[in-house]
Amino acid sequence: METTSHSDPGRATPAPPALIPTLGGKWYVDDRVFAAEQEQLFERMWFCASRTGDIAQPGQFKRVQVGRESVLIVRGRDEQLRAFLNICRHRGAMLCTEDTGQVRRNLQCPYHAWTYALDGTLVAAPNMGALKDATGADIDRVAYGLVPVALREWLGYAWVCLADEPPSFEHDVMGAVTERLGDPAAIDAYEIDTLEVGRRVVYDVAANWKLIVENFMECYHCATIHPELTEVLPEFAQGLAAQVFVGHGAEFGPDIAGFTVDGSPGFDRLPGVTPEQDRRYFAITIRPTVFVNLVPDHIIFHRMFPVSADRTIVECDWLYTKDVVASGRDVSRSVELFHRVNEQDFAACARTQPTMSSRSYRKGGVLVPAEHHIAEFHEWLSCRIGDVR
Ligand code: FES
Ligand code: FE
Repeated sequence: METTSHSDPGRATPAPPALIPTLGGKWYVDDRVFAAEQEQLFERMWFCASRTGDIAQPGQFKRVQVGRESVLIVRGRDEQLRAFLNICRHRGAMLCTEDTGQVRRNLQCPYHAWTYALDGTLVAAPNMGALKDATGADIDRVAYGLVPVALREWLGYAWVCLADEPPSFEHDVMGAVTERLGDPAAIDAYEIDTLEVGRRVVYDVAANWKLIVENFMECYHCATIHPELTEVLPEFAQGLAAQVFVGHGAEFGPDIAGFTVDGSPGFDRLPGVTPEQDRRYFAITIRPTVFVNLVPDHIIFHRMFPVSADRTIVECDWLYTKDVVASGRDVSRSVELFHRVNEQDFAACARTQPTMSSRSYRKGGVLVPAEHHIAEFHEWLSCRIGDVR
């Protein structure tokens, strides 16, 4: 892009072009693109896999698909969360075939009953007596144990990374949040790790995960499809996404008491939320698959699980203080607002998906100025994936 040099003050900075091309349609439908994304993105970056509270008890486990790999996240007897590839080291059977569960002591393969401790160590193999290898030496129970996967806990979620050398969590995950909010302490104020799931809705969306990312990043569509949201956040009706400006939170309308479907009062604001954060909504994208929405009294946390080029599961948690959840107070008015937003957004994405393979969209469409920041996502993606033809 042409820029004005400081040594040439006579020339005005050229305005960015009003229309910027998008990715072509194949990026949303081609299985080879999706395979490249699995390999280059989901299997290399930090992937937000589970709410840690879903795996609270020793022996509890959760199975999660990360790219092409099945990953098992297990709480040990020492209370530690660990992640492993969900594959038996004997002859490769899938170890856990249920999505969630709890074992009393060990994990046992349903095929020939090799048994692993909750820390992944091999503890027994039937008819193998003292577990010897071909030379008669004792088997290394760690080397023949489950293959570990890197795991970090942050914001009350377990993030896993399949890369041999995981990228910096501080840079890639925490840094994305700081970059958006402009202050590393801003997210801490919400104490998201202390909150509990008041409601979870799982959406099965017939759309490519990138259509969902792009939709989340812009608000050009807000006036058209989000009547309830624009009522609560009037500036969204102008089409400018809160994500464009560092530290900018969209302000509640003057007559709005809370972030609820009818603008009625919500709950007490979260204890650490500052006056500057009160009555404001902040939206954050953490690549590749997480969106976080911050409002004064709760958090709306989306995690995407891309299944195929044209299907994405989105798990959305509404998080409240322990007191609100324990009291059994009715959260439905605050849930209903973003649930409607989700349904409106996902319907738009699903409506767009089938036409991505049309000949008219081979070269893609255009981004208007209110969407120009999406071009940066496309650039990032093309750099990571390369040109897939
Ligand atoms: Fe698991 Fe044989 S494949 S015990
Ligand atoms: Fe939307």
